[in-house]
Amino acid sequence: MKISLFYYSGAGNTKFIAKKISSNLKKLKHEVSLIKISSSSIINIQVSDMYIIGFPIYDLTSPQLVDDLIYNIEDSNKPISFFCTKAFASANSIKEVSELSSKKNLYTVAQMELYMPATDALIFFAKKDSFSEKIIKFFYSRNIDKKIDKFTSKIFKNKTNKIQQKWYVYLSFLIPQKTKDDFHAQYTKYIPQFYSQTDICIECMKCVKECPRDNIRFDEQIKFELNCDMCLHCVHHCPTQSIQIGDFTQNNVRYKKVDLNQN
Ligand SMILES: Cc1cc2nc3c(=O)[nH]c(=O)nc-3n(C[C@H](O)[C@H](O)[C@H](O)COP(=O)(O)O)c2cc1C
Ligand code: SF4
Ligand code: SF4
Repeated sequence: MKISLFYYSGAGNTKFIAKKISSNLKKLKHEVSLIKISSSSIINIQVSDMYIIGFPIYDLTSPQLVDDLIYNIEDSNKPISFFCTKAFASANSIKEVSELSSKKNLYTVAQMELYMPATDALIFFAKKDSFSEKIIKFFYSRNIDKKIDKFTSKIFKNKTNKIQQKWYVYLSFLIPQKTKDDFHAQYTKYIPQFYSQTDICIECMKCVKECPRDNIRFDEQIKFELNCDMCLHCVHHCPTQSIQIGDFTQNNVRYKKVDLNQN
């Protein structure tokens, strides 16, 4: 079967899971295209026998590019599956993307939610090698491989979009829209505060090439526009830790490699 596996990932948690799913499916002899979601990869989407989309939860919802991707799938009556990584709460994000897919006549056959270390808390609150770093990195789903096996087997068993929603999805109406908006505003206030320290930037252009939003450019020095998802990829992965957000991130943890030792 020809499977398109799209993933959105900032620091790397969702990419880590996407790669595991991809290798599981390849072992089952499926032809898998593993595609990073970015402004450019969600146009001219190739038709497949099945779609899988993975994303992190940012501000209790899915990144906008995930919705844009679903809108852009020019295909129908095909199975689609979703997985997300989150630190504490996903509200009804998977239900929302699933409903969006139904409008496109794609039917959801499987879903999976995994807890992973909070990449926002690491960058904003944890000094390197501190106790807070250890605590934040301690919180993630155990038995990830088994959960992925269950997810991949469901993908092929379910033939309709009658998937069972998680219990907390039914409680998400308890989160007022204002709380969601305030939460979102908390993060967007950081967007104008990104900068690169010119004295330590080695002009490698990694941040420019890898930003999912094409939000970073080089014009005598690294510059940030305001079309940012707060995915934090650039901040975590700059090789010289040149990228900072205001004075919130100096000497804080950079999460370069997913390392779930206790799994
Ligand atoms: C800007 C931002 C907002 C976040 N908001 C939430 C949230 O609302 N709920 C949650 O459970 N996790 C939240 N997280 C944590 C991420 O969902 C979690 O760490 C995820 O695994 C990151 O995946 P990634 O490394 O693929 O980007 C947030 C992270 C960031 C960077
Ligand atoms: S990734 Fe870091 S070092 Fe490389 S160009 Fe961007 S800011 Fe400079
Ligand atoms: S500027 Fe940085 S945080 Fe913003 S979308 Fe690009 S990579 Fe992500």
